[in-house]
Amino acid sequence: MQSRYEQALEALNRRGRLRRLEGRAGVDFTSNDYLGFAESDALRDAALAALERGVPAGAGGSRLLRGNHPEHEALEAEAAAFFGAQSALFFGSGFAANAAIISTLPQRGDLVIYDALVHASTREGLGLTKAQTQEIPHHHVQAIEDALRDYRATHATGRAFIAIESLYSMDGDLAPLADIVALAARHDAMLLVDEAHATGIAGPQGRGFAAQFEGAANIVALHTCGKALGASGALITMAEPLRRFMINRCKPFIYATAPSPLVAAIVRAALHLSAGADDRRAALQQCIARLGAQLDKLGLPRTGTQIQPVVLGADRRATALAEKIAADGFDVRAIRPPTVPEGSARLRITLGAHLSMADIDGLGASLARHMQDQAA
Ligand SMILES: Cc1ncc(COP(=O)(O)O)c(C=O)c1O
Repeated sequence: MQSRYEQALEALNRRGRLRRLEGRAGVDFTSNDYLGFAESDALRDAALAALERGVPAGAGGSRLLRGNHPEHEALEAEAAAFFGAQSALFFGSGFAANAAIISTLPQRGDLVIYDALVHASTREGLGLTKAQTQEIPHHHVQAIEDALRDYRATHATGRAFIAIESLYSMDGDLAPLADIVALAARHDAMLLVDEAHATGIAGPQGRGFAAQFEGAANIVALHTCGKALGASGALITMAEPLRRFMINRCKPFIYATAPSPLVAAIVRAALHLSAGADDRRAALQQCIARLGAQLDKLGLPRTGTQIQPVVLGADRRATALAEKIAADGFDVRAIRPPTVPEGSARLRITLGAHLSMADIDGLGASLARHMQDQAA
């Protein structure tokens, strides 16, 4: 007899939604290693140097139970200074950090207003929070303001939180961040801004889109370390009392083995690398412009960022196109629901500073050929 798990897998397969792990093949238009840090000599050297000075591979316990290492604290102090925040706290992954913020900071009686396209990790936290939650349409500043007003009209006490991404992971578009920051300040709301895809890429030295706003008491930012920073883990930057509260109340922080001190040392090196990576950011911009020109030829909208979706609609259309493009030697993956809304399966093309103009033109030609075939 088939187990219910096997039945569920078969149902996914029938709908063209079965996922499987695949190896690395083809030119990379899929990873989030936007600046090529992950395989850089600089981070390899930082790891070797850390090992040589005795930094251990494992923390050996929770930060609260002997797992706290000087490398964690050095990273957090440097990260706070780098991002312009009062404090920082390091987590083993962005997913854990995001879920941790949302499940820890908003309390019963509070409200979390969140953009419809926030990442699964934010939704994970929303599922755990005791606060009320309210989804608003993507980028809809007026809807956020209406929700804030309604909340205040009915709640004399309590705090409102707004959860957004600065650069959306599957759409590659930018939040109206300055407007939302102003709104949060006007309504005394907390702003939780996920900079996962902006850290290392946007702002001076790659400090993110929220760089100019960090340091304010109501701004909490998530900086993942496994994307442009090329390592792994995530830093939450925030006001100092919030950090102390997280250390006391955040279950994913308290009841988990601390991230590897070695990784903390590597992330610290990645911050230094980011500070001096204007050349790589400029190369990435050239790639973005080049792909944009290819998309213009195909009549496809461009995002102007390193994340470029080609929305196709039906799941099988997206997977078939990804397979054809892979056969031409380019690694572009199809993204299907529930990662993206129903009916919006897409190719998610990501760009990295390591790509050549020939790579991008090659992808453009492959895309053009196979999209024409599909249309015919
Ligand atoms: C917007 C966003 N937030 C958070 C995360 C989670 O970060 P990590 O990969 O470090 O777990 C991701 C990763 O996919 C993301 O795209």
